Amino acid sequence: MNIETNASLKAYNTFGIDAKTQYLVHIDREDTLIDYLNEHGLQKDKTFVMGGGSNVLFTRDFAGVVLSVELKGIDIIDEDEDYVYVKASAGEEWDDLVRFAVERNLGGLENLSLIPGNVGAAPVQNIGAYGVEQKDHFFGLEAISIREQEKRKFSKQDCKFDYRNSIFKQEYARQYIITSVTYRLDKKPVLKTDYGAIQTELEAMKIKSPGVKDVAKAVSNIRKRKLPDPEKTGNAGSFFKNPVVSKETHDRLKEEYPGLVSFPIDEEHYKLAAGWMIEYCGWKGESVGHASVHQHQALVLINLGKAKGNEVVHLSRMIRMSIENEFGIKLEYEVIIL
Ligand code: EPU
Repeated sequence: MNIETNASLKAYNTFGIDAKTQYLVHIDREDTLIDYLNEHGLQKDKTFVMGGGSNVLFTRDFAGVVLSVELKGIDIIDEDEDYVYVKASAGEEWDDLVRFAVERNLGGLENLSLIPGNVGAAPVQNIGAYGVEQKDHFFGLEAISIREQEKRKFSKQDCKFDYRNSIFKQEYARQYIITSVTYRLDKKPVLKTDYGAIQTELEAMKIKSPGVKDVAKAVSNIRKRKLPDPEKTGNAGSFFKNPVVSKETHDRLKEEYPGLVSFPIDEEHYKLAAGWMIEYCGWKGESVGHASVHQHQALVLINLGKAKGNEVVHLSRMIRMSIENEFGIKLEYEVIIL
């Protein structure tokens, strides 16, 4: 176990914020993680478990321990007539797992191409894009209990997945560290290309009967056009969640704002496209200090280079206020603010 003191977190968060942590602990083996927990436990507000740093915004130096989970390995662990079971360690990059599947023509994760972050973080916030969520192909995960320092297996039901949510953000927040996740991938892929942008992209690519690789390529093309590359421009993907509202609220807003983009979830609820609302309020491309609203996707806030976390938070508060004034809707953060 390698421990750094007074370490910069700049390379450990996709926003590229140059905050420091008192201790940065690199965990590359499960037994060292268990030993660490045995000795130190996790102190409330003093220990942060980092899963690729793609969903966190540091607003100050961290007076505690950042645990960087760097467990590696992607393996096929089982297969039957219809499925292949792929187990990936928590510290693998999510997109490396997607490519592992796509290269082998295994279906399920192709719509989730190019999402930044690590495998261990994917189930925590149930990542999703282009009509697919990781829960759709999730089989199980292993996690170590912080209190008992024991490994436990979780089934799909145990995880209580929901839109950008799971048990690990609710009842079990700060109680487990995920060490590996297993996905059940289709040998006979059933492609999901009903998300409008994918159809259009496949047509532009002149592909009539797409395969897993084509869909992955189409998604990558769309993402590259709309979303900033965190290697070049610091960001954490969508900064806000798309709000879910009642049918009644939706119908009222739709009457007042006919352009409002929304998706029915069930008979009584709609999801509203927050990006549309933010753009409507004139924020797209606007900056405050070194923080800015991405010019191609208003749901994404970016670091123009030297932004402090507080500048990004300041911008986000102004956006929230303006959405609340205009639409009467409170936007929730998707990003964890520390
Ligand atoms: N829109 C605008 N202006 C904008 C942004 C969006 O009018 O600036 C409109 C679009 O035209 C479209 C609708 O809003 O009609 C939805 O936009 P988009 O397809 O870009 O998706 P999103 O709802 O803004 C969600 C996820 C993304 C995911 C995309 C694609 C959340 C919070 N975000 O964004 O996930 O990539 O769908 O599936 O659910 C992330 O979570 O970090 C993330 C990037």
